[in-house]
Amino acid sequence: MAEKITVSLIKADIGSLAGHHVVHPKQLEMAREILEKAKNKGLIIDYYVFNCGDDLQLLMTHRKGESNPEIHELAWNTFKEVTEKVSKPLKLYAAGQDLLGEAFSGNVRGMGPGVAEMEFEERASDPVLVFAADKTEPGAWNYILFKIFADPFNTAGLVIDPSLHQGFDFHVLDVQEGKEVKIGCPEEMYDLLALIGTPGRYVISKIYRKDGLPAAAASTSRLSLIAGRYVGKDDPICIVRAQHGLPAVGEVLEPFAYPHIVAGWMRGSHHGPLMPVPLKYAKCTRFDGPPRVVGLGFQLHDGVLEGPADLFDDPAFDKARAIANDLADYLRRHGPFMPHRLGPDEMEYTTLPAVLEKLKDRFKHV
Ligand code: 13P
Ligand code: 13P
Ligand code: MG
Ligand code: MG
Repeated sequence: MAEKITVSLIKADIGSLAGHHVVHPKQLEMAREILEKAKNKGLIIDYYVFNCGDDLQLLMTHRKGESNPEIHELAWNTFKEVTEKVSKPLKLYAAGQDLLGEAFSGNVRGMGPGVAEMEFEERASDPVLVFAADKTEPGAWNYILFKIFADPFNTAGLVIDPSLHQGFDFHVLDVQEGKEVKIGCPEEMYDLLALIGTPGRYVISKIYRKDGLPAAAASTSRLSLIAGRYVGKDDPICIVRAQHGLPAVGEVLEPFAYPHIVAGWMRGSHHGPLMPVPLKYAKCTRFDGPPRVVGLGFQLHDGVLEGPADLFDDPAFDKARAIANDLADYLRRHGPFMPHRLGPDEMEYTTLPAVLEKLKDRFKHV
């Protein structure tokens, strides 16, 4: 049997062009040069470098398994080198923003970059989809992943395909406690929803078919919990396998037709709609948003990434974009009021407490 393939998507915001708008072309170029060298050395099989907004995305395939120090070091060194040689000299905004650690310590988890990784046996034909969002947080995938893997009104295969019919196991991380729980669907669906309806705390990290086949992996880092202060919003990534005993590509894309409300947007402090966009619109503008997501489709062959197909580059998602714009108008008119602005718990790691601190002594008992 062939050795297993690992797909590693590792991302970081290491500075961007005009505030938090978009990655600079020279950052993309240099990241590609570095990964090309790693490919020529045989460390990775293939790679694809792209961006969503100000987040630089390194998609890599290899045979070294998940959490491999060499692969993580390659990603870390790539982010460091691009920061030193491009972001800093060009004085890009927030150069090195997500690189919280100083020296690499074997795994980029907990050091700032976001990681989604999946090791599996490549099937006879293996469509792999990757999603990257800007101006939101890992919990933004909860709604999407639930719809794909547990909602029969979204995924017809859950009902009519015997190979999906038994359902999926969801791994849910409590980002505050650092604890994970495995919940099976459909049988424990209400328990799952009771957790993941709180996306700021409970985050889906992995999904497996009931026979153990890896189906999805998502990033879970919360930078503010690592750093103890506001450092951007952990713009999330996720990998989903499709077809032949898994949801079809169209079933995976279907939940994105409804731009649900996520946390993030301006200063990581506001609720807004998640707008699906093609790569050419993967850059945030209005009120530093609205939050955006890109979806890229690949076919794997012996670890080679054939593609990408730019999955939201399609008029079928025009309506979702129009609704997202309407929702953006509606929410923006709330200005500094909740529920547009996030609630107090979520504001704890922003610059708001410093403002409230100033008023502390002016409160008189009544
Ligand atoms: P600064 O303008 O002080 O960086 O803060 C706003 C912001 O963009 C937060 O990341
Ligand atoms: P990023 O997390 O994408 O850097 O955005 C920060 C921000 O403050 C946007 O207004
Ligand atoms: Mg940024
Ligand atoms: Mg970002």
